Amino acid sequence: DAAQWEEIAVDIAREAGALARRRRAEGVAVAATKSTLADIVTDADREVEQLIRDRLAAVRPDDGFLGEESDPQPGTSGVTWVVDPIDGTVNYAYGIPQYAVSIAAVTGEATPETWAAQAAAVYSPAVDELFHAHRGGGAWLGDQRLRVSTVTDAGALLATGFGYDPATHDGDLARVRRMMVLARDLRRAGAASLDLAYVAAGRLDGYFERGLKPWDHAAGALLVTEAGGVVGGRPGSAPGAEMTIAAGPELFPRMRELLDA
Ligand code: IPD
Repeated sequence: DAAQWEEIAVDIAREAGALARRRRAEGVAVAATKSTLADIVTDADREVEQLIRDRLAAVRPDDGFLGEESDPQPGTSGVTWVVDPIDGTVNYAYGIPQYAVSIAAVTGEATPETWAAQAAAVYSPAVDELFHAHRGGGAWLGDQRLRVSTVTDAGALLATGFGYDPATHDGDLARVRRMMVLARDLRRAGAASLDLAYVAAGRLDGYFERGLKPWDHAAGALLVTEAGGVVGGRPGSAPGAEMTIAAGPELFPRMRELLDA
């Protein structure tokens, strides 16, 4: 059940994060650019994803797998693992410690529109912080229970990200300008899973970003909802490519209204 999946996610995220940290210490080269200059992959991304895949295949052979760096593998159990081996790859490649291993277990069809996230682990190896949750069990940083902040309006510490496609940058910047009426200050830290984990922890009041992939938000979104927050997309749609918004229950509608204006 979901609590067991959480344990599996936590154990594997720790082991995968330790590998990422070791590879980082040995030096990292960009292996390839993908869609654009900012969309990169390193050998470590692939190696860490392979480790996660192998570990999951050993304990959960009938589950599906959806990861950033390899072909999706449908399962037969109704459970799919949605994995970003190194979220924040640009930071990782540049030696900035803001990167994370993100692992979620979801049930139902493996798309954000329909899946139900059941368990999540987001591990930040550089500072050894492990955020985890299972559905109905609350969100945790280690053994500390997390709650989203209660900021409702102006004075929010917001975070965002910029899509890898330069064609979207004008829109991203226009949204930032609109959102600043709510903001005390704004962060673009470079790892969506950690942005979401920080909203869960009340370290950020709100987060918004266009263009996320399923593995960027699957685990972090469950952390936010289990910490009493709300995650969504544009009105009536799921979080994901069009828009991902995360905040406490009072700030969320304010953000969504402004983002949609
Ligand atoms: C990226 C990071 C970044 C966000 C991008 C993501 P990756 O993930 O989360 O903060 O702005 O949208 O794609 O490519 O480093 O795994």
